[in-house]
Amino acid sequence: MLFQSPKGTKDVLPAEQPYWHYVEDTIRRVVRLYEYERLDMPVFEETELFQRGVGEGTDIVEKEMYTFKDKGGTSITLRPEFTAGIVRAYLQHGMSNLPKPVKVWAMGPVFRYERPQAGRYRQHTQFDVEALGEQDPAVDYEIMSIAWHLYEALGFKKLSFQINSIGCPVCRPNFLDRLVSYYKDHLNEVCEDCRKRLDKNPLRLLDCKNPQCQPAIQGAPPVIESLCDECGAHFQTLRAYLDDSKRQYSLNHRLVRGLDYYTKTVFEVWAQGIGAQNAVCGGGRYDGLAEAIGGPPVPAVGFASGMERIVLSLKEEEVDVPDTLRPRVYFAFQDEKAKKEGVRLLTTFHQAGVESIMGFGSRSLKAQLREANRRGARFAIILGDEELKNHTAQVKDMEGSTQESVPWDDLLTFIWKHEDG
Ligand code: HAM
Repeated sequence: MLFQSPKGTKDVLPAEQPYWHYVEDTIRRVVRLYEYERLDMPVFEETELFQRGVGEGTDIVEKEMYTFKDKGGTSITLRPEFTAGIVRAYLQHGMSNLPKPVKVWAMGPVFRYERPQAGRYRQHTQFDVEALGEQDPAVDYEIMSIAWHLYEALGFKKLSFQINSIGCPVCRPNFLDRLVSYYKDHLNEVCEDCRKRLDKNPLRLLDCKNPQCQPAIQGAPPVIESLCDECGAHFQTLRAYLDDSKRQYSLNHRLVRGLDYYTKTVFEVWAQGIGAQNAVCGGGRYDGLAEAIGGPPVPAVGFASGMERIVLSLKEEEVDVPDTLRPRVYFAFQDEKAKKEGVRLLTTFHQAGVESIMGFGSRSLKAQLREANRRGARFAIILGDEELKNHTAQVKDMEGSTQESVPWDDLLTFIWKHEDG
């Protein structure tokens, strides 16, 4: 074969589409419940937006972006995430004049040049929710609730939150000083990457996955011990809401997330059955992002979830999803003459809004009925010589296996009457 889909990308074939429909329908239902509105942005932005927003020292900006010069010489990047673009749109369209928080959601492809593995793609699809313009920890709680609600509605089991607070520009420098001086005493115990992180992005020392670095991480000072009064109070209020909600959560000192814009709350939702990468989503507060890209301060919080990972887990956990494509009627014909009449009837069925298909080509009636069965049709409408003469059709109930003769003019009424039977 000459071509394959590019490495790290995937085709979503028709057989997998019912899972996607199910996830999308559930997402729409949940965001409507919390009154979030859809926002669509272009799939590419100016590169500097992500450099300044996501952060120069992050893996995403340093190694993973699809960046190119367009024909006008502008550096363009395929979005590696939604949040920076959403804040850009918020600032550009004066959305700060709307009632706050401004509550939006987005969905679409995201591009990261990563090492592909199960559940990790170079083009993946994100569902993203953001609340902008409000400092209140009750908004952090709402964002976390939406995530929880979604996975619960999708049928995920054993959910838990992982939470942490990584402070703000007031308290984080003190913490980083403590962290760096701790690590200076443990340099010979950590991997090569961690030694580089010490200068470049010390917070990320805490989420290194290398087994060699785990003892050093365990002994590292927890960030919440260094929070300023404001960050401490914010985190405490959020935890009180979580306590009351009875949703399971763990304080995870290692959770720092891989994007530079986070302040205060960071969280993930973990679930059973999604393998090594058991985070179904990740997010947090990012009160400094709007300023980082040239705007006024805009406190905000949100999360994003990879749809491919959701679909993968639904399949692994054998969650039943509704079959979205199941014709109600299959038209089958004995010969070309009958087919001509059938094509006319099929048009009236489509106009009446009945999902109907027909047997194409010149196959035997038996072969057509086999196809009707394979496609899961509820009824087969069969036309032959006899039926043409009488202006009737044989309607075969594919589930009950009964068959009866129905006049053409009564066919639609017959199907409607029996559609749930
Ligand atoms: P993130 O953790 O980088 O956060 O990505 C969010 C989610 O996207 C992950 O939890 C994962 O489900 C999915 N994901 C990420 N990379 C891949 C990949 N290569 N293949 C498949 N799925 C992937 C963000 O992007 C932030 N913008 C989230 C956020 C929104 N924070 C505040 N608001």
